[in-house]
Amino acid sequence: MDPVQIFLAMAFVVSAYLLWFSQLSGRLTGPKVWPLVGSVPYVFMNRHRFHDWIASNLRRTGGTATYQTCTIALPFFAYKQGFYTVTCHPKNIEHILRTRFDNYPKGPQWQAAFHDLLGQGIFNSDGETWLMQRKTAALEFTTRTLRQAMNRWDPETLSPDLPENPFAIAFDSATEATLQRLMYPGLLWRLKKVFNIGTEWKLQKSLQVVENYITGALNARKENPSDDLLSRFMNKKDSNGNVLADNVLKRIALNFVLAGRDTSSVALSWFFWLVMNHPEIESKIVNEISTVLRQTRGDDPAAWLENPLSFDEADKLVYLKAALAETLRLYPSVPEDFKYVVNDDVLPDGTPVPAGSTVTYSIYSVGRMKTIWGEDCLEFRPERWLIEVGPEGEFKFETPKEGYKFVAFNAGPRTCLGKDLAYLQMKSVASAVLLRYRLAPVPGHRVEQKMSLTLFMKNGLKVFLKPRELKAGAGGVGVHANGAKVAMCA
Ligand code: HEM
Repeated sequence: MDPVQIFLAMAFVVSAYLLWFSQLSGRLTGPKVWPLVGSVPYVFMNRHRFHDWIASNLRRTGGTATYQTCTIALPFFAYKQGFYTVTCHPKNIEHILRTRFDNYPKGPQWQAAFHDLLGQGIFNSDGETWLMQRKTAALEFTTRTLRQAMNRWDPETLSPDLPENPFAIAFDSATEATLQRLMYPGLLWRLKKVFNIGTEWKLQKSLQVVENYITGALNARKENPSDDLLSRFMNKKDSNGNVLADNVLKRIALNFVLAGRDTSSVALSWFFWLVMNHPEIESKIVNEISTVLRQTRGDDPAAWLENPLSFDEADKLVYLKAALAETLRLYPSVPEDFKYVVNDDVLPDGTPVPAGSTVTYSIYSVGRMKTIWGEDCLEFRPERWLIEVGPEGEFKFETPKEGYKFVAFNAGPRTCLGKDLAYLQMKSVASAVLLRYRLAPVPGHRVEQKMSLTLFMKNGLKVFLKPRELKAGAGGVGVHANGAKVAMCA
């Protein structure tokens, strides 16, 4: 081929590509896309404020609250792995999570990215493998088991004097590295894995620590069987009558660690931060706890602090529950979630979604849209969760009628199994802390989001703890002027 022919052939390929690209970009409704790399440059530029970036993109769409973008602007890929439909439209979310549940599994991309950490555990499986685990685990989350579990909680396990746990550090680092896999085209992490570099090197190092720890935990449970979740799975037989292999059991256990370890604790960090910046809400919470404890334990505040809350006491704390739900509306522990599209479909708002692409529903954005939560959507206002039920101002906690506008615990067949447990744990810790202390921000400490699968605080939360003086009389809450100390929670 002479140079002129080569030039003409190249000009033809480039023109055909540009024509194809202009059709693609004309169809996309999200941030600007570039030839070849689509919206990746914007993902990269906004990697430190990813959730707010998604929310602002969604706001820009007006009422539709859905946009489509592409991260691999190449024929075939552009409408498959590289194609993302991002939504926070409640009707779309209901469609994805419930109405057409079978069309929106976790899918191969998600499963491949998480396989090293989570194997085929409940978080990372679909179909029969998921259903078997869901049914087995559900038996561990009944009200009866929650009541029993609550009696076994030991506040000492939260002691700041405990040594740092290498497993916890490695687990966090592995989850973070796994998230990186999802942010960019899959080819990139696969190449990094082959060469064992960057975040992939970090992931492999962390996984070794995680593996050693979980092997030890499983062996310990085998020596001392108990009546807990892991033991339930150890007794489980597959369809051929065989017990589950150690490797499967370890991944199952890790999935529950991922599910339950950080979700409640990060929610509490945001809760304490919001509460200390809203003293009037803090007073209402402490008054509610005091009122309930006065009824169950008498007038002496010393008796209120003797033991953690009982199940029935926690159940009565509706204002506290509203404040926790309000926290999760603004700072959902799982800020974004992803589903794979099995067959071509059209979402209720009219958006067509191609088979093989990904749908991201932004839990973070749902809580921050005026079109969904009203003009005051960015305000921390627990009252929006309460309805008056009695003549004397008794309130009841109520989730919104349009269920899919609050999806911090997911919804549909894959609703969070630990929701009631999480509320109990959070109420218990929040009460224990707020009854004893009044919190104040440490000047200069920056509260920022960390970009991870879980909405951590990047720098933790540093607070001054001022001992709280509880008065026996109705509504009496005071504060000692002296004795402030600093505490830090992750
Ligand atoms: C504030 C605390 C919590 C929040 C906000 C939360 C939120 C969520 C979300 C959004 C999902 C869906 C994840 C996905 O499918 O990608 C989920 C699933 C799940 N959660 Fe929670 N969670 C919390 C606490 C807990 C606790 C304490 C447990 C108990 C171990 C737990 C157990 C689970 C399980 C087992 C699933 C998987 C359900 C399935 O796929 O069928 N969660 N949770």
